[in-house]
Amino acid sequence: MDKVWQENKPLLNVDAGDVFGPRNQNEREQTRFLCEMLGTLGLDAIGLGEQDLNYGLEFLREMMTQHGLPFINANVRDAKTGELILPPYKVVERNGVKYGIVSVLDPQQQILTLTGGEGQFTVADPLTTLRELVPKIRQEAESVVLLAHLGEPGTEALLKELQGIDICVVGHSYRNIETERVIKDTAVFGSAYEGRFQGRADLFIEVGSGRVMAIDVGMIDFDDKAPEDADVKARVEKFKTDLVTFKEAKRSAYPRIHGSEKEQFLGDRSCFTCHEAAWQSYAASAHRRAYTSLRSDGQSNEPDCLVCHTTGYQYKNGYSDERPYNSLVNVQCEACHGYGSTHARDGKWRLQARNSCVTCHDQANSPEFDYATYWEKIKH
Ligand code: HEC
Ligand code: HEC
Ligand code: HEC
Ligand code: HEC
Repeated sequence: MDKVWQENKPLLNVDAGDVFGPRNQNEREQTRFLCEMLGTLGLDAIGLGEQDLNYGLEFLREMMTQHGLPFINANVRDAKTGELILPPYKVVERNGVKYGIVSVLDPQQQILTLTGGEGQFTVADPLTTLRELVPKIRQEAESVVLLAHLGEPGTEALLKELQGIDICVVGHSYRNIETERVIKDTAVFGSAYEGRFQGRADLFIEVGSGRVMAIDVGMIDFDDKAPEDADVKARVEKFKTDLVTFKEAKRSAYPRIHGSEKEQFLGDRSCFTCHEAAWQSYAASAHRRAYTSLRSDGQSNEPDCLVCHTTGYQYKNGYSDERPYNSLVNVQCEACHGYGSTHARDGKWRLQARNSCVTCHDQANSPEFDYATYWEKIKH
């Protein structure tokens, strides 16, 4: 951006959405930082992607105010009030030409948030929305820019049916659109995901009419060859340290107080050869899915949940998100029987396992727990 700014040409700087990270709390912490950095890029508009609601509307609004992020969207409403959650469009002027920037989200993308579950938002049909809105924007602006959070096929289908869009930036796409593409009267481009690329389109605009006369698209690849920016690098390094501190503060509520450094959890695979029948019973049980359940809840980094949904969380050499301990996901054999490194043959393991249930099946998380009926479901 420094380079682009130095050229001192009229510039529209936009993002077509899905800026935020995956739905879990560590990622939310990273997203705060991402937003802080994004705030330094001087974006004119960001089209809402479904990912940008991963941490709820309140968080999105907090980031918008804190870092001046200009999110817009014309078809997502609060399900309760029926109100649009963001400004539907924005008008900016460059070199005497007014550009109306508008954005829509694909209704087929599921919006899930960390905070409130499903059904908080309704998403209207993009075509209907834009057919109504674009003539109105045209009255305020000479040129209309669409940030289409619809992926490539969705964008293409829309533009075949829609009049009045001059420039379209595609979001929710995993591919760069590197060559000049025109669909009917609209110039279309987009850059791929994870901030790996920056798309650049030089547009030759007719002064007065605001019409796009020609377009020249290019991609900047932020690979290893791209030089580091010293200031950004320093901020990233500081953030990494802060993130470790953040994670450790949460983990510190669950210290590794049990067990011994000398013992190891061997992992469920290591029991398979000698206890195939037990293994099959375990493989079919809910315990083998315990971590997946957290993942689908967006809580797979949350110590408050990991303590019961992994193996040996509070034990020395037990689960952590680092290799090799990250293989101890789910409630494996050793979560009930204990460290496999010293195999008991004296009945101790059976007894230990019988007593283990209630450490996880407590009143809050398993109110219906009853040893006999529950054992029946996992017996081996
Ligand atoms: C380390 C924690 C932990 C221990 C120890 C544990 N469980 Fe579980 N159990 C879980 C978790 C977590 C789930 C939910 C898994 C899921 O579906 O995500 C679960 C689910 C189950 C289910 C499935 C419930 C259902 O509605 O289908 C049964 C049955 C069960 N446990 C029985 C037992 C018994 C019996 C013991 C003791 C012998 C035991 N568990 C010990 C954590 C534990
Ligand atoms: C004290 C142990 C414990 C903690 C802490 C815990 N869970 Fe569980 N969880 C269980 C047990 C036990 C079950 C199985 C309950 C049953 O079926 O009786 C379970 C079941 C579940 C299920 C249901 C699985 C299904 O599909 O039916 C989900 C989802 C889940 N837990 C998510 C979480 C999340 C998210 C957290 C953190 C906020 C969490 N758990 C914290 C022990 C725990
Ligand atoms: C949810 C807790 C739990 C998990 C997970 C679990 N077990 Fe067990 N297991 C038990 C309990 C409880 C007993 C003792 C039952 C009894 O004797 O009343 C037991 C008994 C056994 C026995 C002795 C069977 C016999 O009667 O001789 C073997 C062997 C065994 N488990 C192997 C495994 C293996 C291998 C795995 C993983 C593939 C596994 N268990 C996973 C709770 C568990
Ligand atoms: C090299 C073969 C072998 C491996 C590997 C092995 N076991 Fe065993 N295990 C045995 C034998 C043999 C017995 C004793 C005979 C019996 O009770 O079935 C036994 C007994 C047990 C018992 C009953 C112990 C008691 O006295 O309380 C449990 C529980 C058990 N194994 C669990 C496991 C678990 C969990 C693993 C993986 C960490 C595992 N075993 C790995 C061979 C093995």
